[in-house]
Amino acid sequence: MGITLVTGASSGIGRASALAMAERGDGVILTYNGNKDGAEEAVAAIRQAGGTAVALRLDVGDSSTFPSFVDEVRDTLESVWQTDRITSLVNNAGIGGGTKFADTTEERFDDLVNVLFRGVFFLTQRLLPVLADGSAIVNVASSSARSNPIDLAGGYSAYAACKGAVIVLTRHLAVELSDRRIRVNSVSPGPTHTSISGNAFDKMAHLVPELASKTLLGRLGDPRDIGAMVAVLLSEEGQWITGQDIEVSGGYRLGV
Ligand SMILES: NC(=O)c1ccc[n+]([C@@H]2O[C@H](COP(=O)([O-])OP(=O)(O)OC[C@H]3O[C@@H](n4cnc5c(N)ncnc54)[C@H](OP(=O)(O)O)[C@@H]3O)[C@@H](O)[C@H]2O)c1
Repeated sequence: MGITLVTGASSGIGRASALAMAERGDGVILTYNGNKDGAEEAVAAIRQAGGTAVALRLDVGDSSTFPSFVDEVRDTLESVWQTDRITSLVNNAGIGGGTKFADTTEERFDDLVNVLFRGVFFLTQRLLPVLADGSAIVNVASSSARSNPIDLAGGYSAYAACKGAVIVLTRHLAVELSDRRIRVNSVSPGPTHTSISGNAFDKMAHLVPELASKTLLGRLGDPRDIGAMVAVLLSEEGQWITGQDIEVSGGYRLGV
């Protein structure tokens, strides 16, 4: 049995990824920031299905908390699973775009960069001693890094640039961590029905048919669509894949 750590698993894609790894038999450490109830629901769902999970609080936008978070991870690994290593890491936690370029203040820019890029960079660095040799990392990027999305939340320049940075970081980490046989990949979800950007998909429901019509498979993504791919990349089926970004979007903005 392996142990998967998923950031931002109190809802959406993170929760679906945590559940998918638990279904494959992994123990799961999942994190939340503000939504403790959501994290507890995710833990309960995993336990109900016969798995083991623990929820820890983590703000990926505040790297000063990372050393104490890593200590908590070590304590949890020891007390719950009697081990000192995780075997999978999913850097998923994120916030939506929602700001046009001309309106992006330095403060908003810093918030996005801290959560979406800086956090991924330094959390992964801090977790290196806890990652087992031969383990796997999946970073959650976005299709917006490659194709301009239909504007659901009000502008994506800083958001999409951070996701592009995550894709580039993924490739470089794959090279630098290969001496420990650690595989590093990213997934780029297309529009996926979660609570991102203050429930934008529900608030802007009139845009959903347009999003679906721009998707070859004709619907919005479900978090489980993404969780399934994350699980493949983390598991034995993905053992020969590293340094790649896989778009998981049902063919968003591809020929339609
Ligand atoms: N949904 C889409 O269409 C879409 C498309 C492409 C990429 N993505 C990416 O997918 C990832 C997951 O998003 P989602 O769509 O599943 O949205 P979601 O349901 O809103 O989930 C976001 C998760 O990130 C956590 N989070 C937010 N800010 C955080 C912070 N500062 N520190 C730690 N955790 C934080 C949230 O925790 P709390 O709620 O507990 O605060 C929540 O668990 C994000 O990286 C997002 O950019 C989503």
